[in-house]
Amino acid sequence: MKRIGILTRDCAGINACIRAIVRTADSYGIEIVGIIRGYEGLMNSETTVLTHRSVSGIINSGGTILKTARAKRFLTEEGQLDALKTIKNNQLDGLIVVGGNGSLTGAHVLCEKYGIKVIGVPATIDNDINGVDSALGTDTAVNVALDAIDKIRDTATSLERIFVVEVMGRDCGYIALRVALAGGCEEVIVPEKNLDIEGMCEEITEGNARGKISWIIITAEGKAKAQDVAAKITQITEFETRETVLGHIQRGGRPTAFDRILAARYGNKAVEAIKDGESDKCVSLKNGNLFLLPLEDAIKSKDMEVESYYRLIKILT
Ligand code: F6P
Repeated sequence: MKRIGILTRDCAGINACIRAIVRTADSYGIEIVGIIRGYEGLMNSETTVLTHRSVSGIINSGGTILKTARAKRFLTEEGQLDALKTIKNNQLDGLIVVGGNGSLTGAHVLCEKYGIKVIGVPATIDNDINGVDSALGTDTAVNVALDAIDKIRDTATSLERIFVVEVMGRDCGYIALRVALAGGCEEVIVPEKNLDIEGMCEEITEGNARGKISWIIITAEGKAKAQDVAAKITQITEFETRETVLGHIQRGGRPTAFDRILAARYGNKAVEAIKDGESDKCVSLKNGNLFLLPLEDAIKSKDMEVESYYRLIKILT
């Protein structure tokens, strides 16, 4: 194995992972070719050789030095054949794909349909890769959102108000459930669970009658917008509300120590795996141990333990 390509999505810890991949490969005399702009660049042959030195000073930076893009054309056969051309023209012996569900599905297609050697690295703030305890970027995203919620709590408590905070998660409530628990929030709204806004308002009114004066309600963007939830609560309870949308600050920022360590371990394991002839798998962490997981399992839907987290949040409120 002489040359491996790498393409990524963006979230905290990905640059640290690129560094780990390049330097592990370097120690085996393998060259790493960075694909610019993810699958878009793979179809358009946008590449750059990454050296030991070119990945200096990026361990603590967010985003991806390789840039990334949403690439709908890759879903078509024509797009996939263009990607194949880039792989052949650059003499890539394999590809490491660092990203979430969509990216790993693309990697699985490249292997299954075209016989390309691929290894995935789970990286998404949604932590929705099946069979993986922790995707890269998840820990940073939860900590960034939690830091903001702690600040909002200062005002919520001082002003005796109801705050609705919208976190990321189009199809999944991972961040919402974790920050609601870690932030001591009263309510959480997630895509995996029915929203009973009238019931929530009843609880608020009853709580207020008992002397409770402030609430923080977390909502995942995919289920309900903070603005709509806040307006409905005011309409039903007549209490004043404020809303905050945290947005993309959750995907960027300096990776936590946890994500940097994970990036080093995942990156190193991905190179070792592809060098040893493994393919169609992604590196994974389960109970602290690294192992390889078939990509077709990784891209299946994951049990997000919604009910147990929800129950705990309600008990501790
Ligand atoms: O899948 C990761 C994620 O950050 C989701 O939580 C969010 O809904 C989505 O991506 C946002 O995508 P974009 O940055 O393309 O708007």
